[in-house]
Amino acid sequence: MKTILQNISFLLITLVATVACQTSQTQQENKEQTKPTEEAPATNPRTDSLTKVFNEGKRLFANCAQCHTTTRDKMVGPGLQGVLERRRVDWVIAFIENSQKLIASGDKEAVALYNEYNKTQMQSFKYSPEEMPKLLFYMANLGRKPNEYITLDELPKIKKK
Ligand code: HEC
Repeated sequence: MKTILQNISFLLITLVATVACQTSQTQQENKEQTKPTEEAPATNPRTDSLTKVFNEGKRLFANCAQCHTTTRDKMVGPGLQGVLERRRVDWVIAFIENSQKLIASGDKEAVALYNEYNKTQMQSFKYSPEEMPKLLFYMANLGRKPNEYITLDELPKIKKK
């Protein structure tokens, strides 16, 4: 009787161990299949809080997605990836808040862009002082991985012109 019990418990232990081993193997495989852009180092507090801001900005960008891609591809308007590397932050804010006013003021970059897009008017948007930086942070980090996020303060350092 004792040996049977011993045998059964031995079998059970082996079974549990095998299942556990297989599960961890599957998890390992799943991990390897995850694309690099989806991997955020979960233990990095800076990355975690910036990912939160990025996702909030993404939500605010819903107003823009009908006309702008998040890559460099043109749609109704220019693709917005890299826009904060080719434009100043204050210029981008002015354009979002009232592009027609900026164009009417004779701003060379705005006028050139307006003509390039066959005088398609972009409507004005009103974002709160809390929302605007989140939207800008999202746009500044399009195409970047979470561990490569740059803040708006860091933008001038990478600006080309
Ligand atoms: C109805 C279409 C439309 C919508 C919606 C729209 N845009 Fe635009 N946007 C344009 C067009 C067209 C241009 C090109 C300039 C022009 O024609 O005025 C432009 C230009 C821009 C530019 C300048 C791009 C560059 O290359 O310098 C920025 C920045 C921008 N839009 C941001 C936004 C943001 C942010 C939103 C959402 C809050 C938004 N746009 C919503 C049509 C739109």
